[in-house]
Amino acid sequence: MKTAQTGRLGMGDMQNLHGARHRPPLKRPLWIIVLVSLISIFIIGAYVYPPQSSAACYIFSSRGCKAISDWLPPVPTREYTDEEVASHLVIREILNAPPLQSESPKVAFMFLTPYSLPFEKLWEKFFHGHEGKFSVYVHASKDKPVHVSRYFVNRDVRSDQVIWGKISMVDAEKRLLANALEDPDNQHFVLLSESCVPLYNFDYIYNHLINTNVSFVDSFEDPGPHGNGRYSEHMSPEIEKKDFRKGAQWFSMKRQHAVIVLADHLYYSKFRDYCKPGLEGRNCIADEHYLPTFFHLIDPGGIANWSVTHVDWSERKWHPKSYKAQDVTYGLLKNITSIQESVHVTSDEKKEVQRWPCLWNGIQKPCYLFARKFLPEALDKLMNHFANYTTI
Ligand SMILES: *[C@@H]1O[C@H](CO)[C@@H](O)[C@H](O)[C@H]1NC(C)=O
Ligand SMILES: *[C@@H]1O[C@H](CO)[C@@H](O)[C@H](O)[C@H]1NC(C)=O
Ligand SMILES: *[C@@H]1O[C@H](CO)[C@@H](O)[C@H](O)[C@H]1NC(C)=O
Ligand SMILES: *[C@@H]1O[C@H](CO)[C@@H](O)[C@H](O)[C@H]1NC(C)=O
Repeated sequence: MKTAQTGRLGMGDMQNLHGARHRPPLKRPLWIIVLVSLISIFIIGAYVYPPQSSAACYIFSSRGCKAISDWLPPVPTREYTDEEVASHLVIREILNAPPLQSESPKVAFMFLTPYSLPFEKLWEKFFHGHEGKFSVYVHASKDKPVHVSRYFVNRDVRSDQVIWGKISMVDAEKRLLANALEDPDNQHFVLLSESCVPLYNFDYIYNHLINTNVSFVDSFEDPGPHGNGRYSEHMSPEIEKKDFRKGAQWFSMKRQHAVIVLADHLYYSKFRDYCKPGLEGRNCIADEHYLPTFFHLIDPGGIANWSVTHVDWSERKWHPKSYKAQDVTYGLLKNITSIQESVHVTSDEKKEVQRWPCLWNGIQKPCYLFARKFLPEALDKLMNHFANYTTI
């Protein structure tokens, strides 16, 4: 969309360069002062920033970089606290342990909703005939849901209130994970909202999730006010600003990752205490930052960095676009399933667009398995189109 901006920036730099070239030569004393200052800045810079990430290392070769670090006293590395040492150890052990094998692996569909689910009938169509390959969990934070599908009856987990932006949202996600982990056959865990619908038939989604080698956790670096602008210095030293990440809450994850989320207290408590709306003038939203930052820190190569749930932010309002019944057409659904690149836009004035191909075990595939937000009135049209649009 706005990739051209980086190009424009480059042009500006070139013009400055030309400008400099036509300037008259500097007088001698000034020239020496400038040179000495540049050298000092260079040495201080090389010392303050660890050699690997120092700009000097990009300018010169890595050999030059090594030579610079040899001159300087060693950069003090931070001593980890007891809690960090223990946390790193537990996470490493879980990641290195062979995954629990199951004779009949299942996908856990975890619904996070305030009240009754408007699309149970659609999900019933989706689940029908695939008994034994899935399990359903419902966390209803406001009203006890009235279920209309047999796949949802008696699947409510003990629920609690959820306050938007606060850690109670993450607590509800963890509650769903804990309930779903109790069944050892559950190998992959997907979080869905009441306004989510499936974009494919059951077999396609099941194979996609059971056979993936990563978890689909959305995570990107946003230097703008809705990203790093929400970071609090109280999170350091365990979480530094450079590691702060953002992403949509609608994850899907492997069993090992689900266990790690439940095992974590250290990073969780930082977000519980320092990431909430209105704290120190920031509007930090815990569920948009905790898991994206946590996985970036502990297993960056183990997550896809995008979510398998599509949402349309193109209207650039506070809330994403909600599809009405009249919006639901074969064309809309095919448009969503044809997307093969994940796109993130930063919230600063640059509005930089980050694009990555959606790779599934190394193969580029459509990014999305689910989509939101659909209004309840869209149910009948989705039911009528289901067999058609989910045919691959
Ligand atoms: C996700 O992003 C991290 C950087 O934060 C990167 O190291 C990792 O390779 C990315 N994952 C995939 C599957 O590309
Ligand atoms: C599908 O995408 C095309 C191209 O982006 C667009 O012109 C068209 O309006 C979209 N159709 C629907 C139904 O969203
Ligand atoms: C997943 O599989 C792809 C393709 O084989 C490979 O490049 C990638 O490193 C794997 N990722 C993990 C986390 O195993
Ligand atoms: C689905 O509907 C579209 C538009 O009505 C049609 O072009 C297409 O052939 C149908 N596909 C299947 C698999 O029935």
